[in-house]
Amino acid sequence: MPWLGVGLASLLGLSCKGQSPDAAVPAIDIPEGRVKLAFIGDQGLDSRLWGNGPRAVLKLIQDEGAQAVLHQGDFDYDDDPAAWVRQIDDVLGPDFPYFVSVGNHDVERWDGPGGYRERMEQRATRLGFTWTGELGESAELHFRGIHLLFGAPGTLDRPDGFYTDFFTRGLAADTSTWRVCSWHKNQELMQVGGKTDETGWGVYEACRAGGAIIATGHEHSYSRTHLLSSMEHQTVASLSDTLRITKGETFAFVSGLGGRGIRDQKLAGDWWASIHTTTQEAALGALFGVFDIGGRGDLAFFYFKDVDGNIVDAFWVVSAVN
Ligand SMILES: [Fe+2]
Repeated sequence: MPWLGVGLASLLGLSCKGQSPDAAVPAIDIPEGRVKLAFIGDQGLDSRLWGNGPRAVLKLIQDEGAQAVLHQGDFDYDDDPAAWVRQIDDVLGPDFPYFVSVGNHDVERWDGPGGYRERMEQRATRLGFTWTGELGESAELHFRGIHLLFGAPGTLDRPDGFYTDFFTRGLAADTSTWRVCSWHKNQELMQVGGKTDETGWGVYEACRAGGAIIATGHEHSYSRTHLLSSMEHQTVASLSDTLRITKGETFAFVSGLGGRGIRDQKLAGDWWASIHTTTQEAALGALFGVFDIGGRGDLAFFYFKDVDGNIVDAFWVVSAVN
């Protein structure tokens, strides 16, 4: 079970369980940590109460014990903020921390009374969170010590370099061990489907230089890079399944299986550590990040779990940014 990062796993007294009935899907013990975040994108509305769609993914998030959702854009695809929030509240409850980056399908009802942004601001305020900037589009917020930066490169119309500067400045001015850059869209080579260059490389390189994990959506599949020392040139710094993040080396992922649909694999490259599309018979699901494991504030464990219970990617992350 190479993905468990044997050295770290044994160090922490963690073990693999035996093979599950489906031999392709080994069961693993998920380590406990201080904070667990769920990453999803591209959700959609599920009119059925517990269909195999967005609500099933939200239920998975609840069952896994996540403490917050980071939604990398594209909410209900129906310009219906009220129905979208109702779907979240139905499953996770109205007091569940839920943070977003605006996606292209959310722009129409992003601003204005009753829009997505107002509803997200009201939710965060009601739950006692404070932030700087514009929530969901250029905001910084700390969730249980994790520095979260939300942008909208390629989605909202801003001057050239606006989001690159935003991430660069935000990361430079903060000393948190864990940093996450969240936005919706991609560069073509930072996803494995049919998306084109929509963000520019500046935001990816700014977050790499600042030692932040890069969370995106938009393409309806899951893909996760190895540790990279250049995003633009896809330079692999290490093939290890323990990713050691520094200011200069990090990884990026697309977690776009939040409910709207699943697409096939069109691209490949040796910088990808995990790819999960219809080509791999993917199901909907979420990426989970468990931070601060075994009292170590610099150790995290990430895993992608689908609604059928399969864990299709799992890896350790060590933060050496400080
Ligand atoms: Fe999108």
